[in-house]
Amino acid sequence: MSGGGTADFFYREAQRLVYVARSAFKLLQIQKQYKLITPGSSVLDLGCAPGAWLQVACQSLGPLKNGGAVVGIDLKKVKVPSTHCDSRVSTVSADVMNLPKDEFLNLYPQKEGFSVVRYVSTCYWYHN
Ligand SMILES: C[S@@+](CC[C@H](N)C(=O)[O-])C[C@H]1O[C@@H](n2cnc3c(N)ncnc32)[C@H](O)[C@@H]1O
Repeated sequence: MSGGGTADFFYREAQRLVYVARSAFKLLQIQKQYKLITPGSSVLDLGCAPGAWLQVACQSLGPLKNGGAVVGIDLKKVKVPSTHCDSRVSTVSADVMNLPKDEFLNLYPQKEGFSVVRYVSTCYWYHN
């Protein structure tokens, strides 16, 4: 083995649990430790492709009746993963550096703004 044992483990686990990327486990760990996303949260994921964090964010919202929303933006067109995501998840194809501030607010269905925002670099979170 060439030092890739752990990476292979998470890759296989992501496949087994139907996450679109092994990065899902990073957010699962963050959630376990900090519980940033709670039922009813409104989450904005800036740079969301391929969508593993959209999956974990949606799971973290709890049942559909709890409400909440997850909006992902990426330069690439991202299809909402069919597993672990429900109607609360949507994606937009755009450059987050060039999206006007008022358009960010329009992305959230109730236009109340977002309670949790993740920025392009993997682990920078804003939590309101
Ligand atoms: C590491 S990936 C995100 C992985 C994602 N968290 C997941 O777990 O599936 C970073 C993403 O940021 C996107 N990105 C980088 N700069 C961007 C920008 N200015 N606007 C929108 N998306 C951007 C890239 O296209 C890339 O898909």
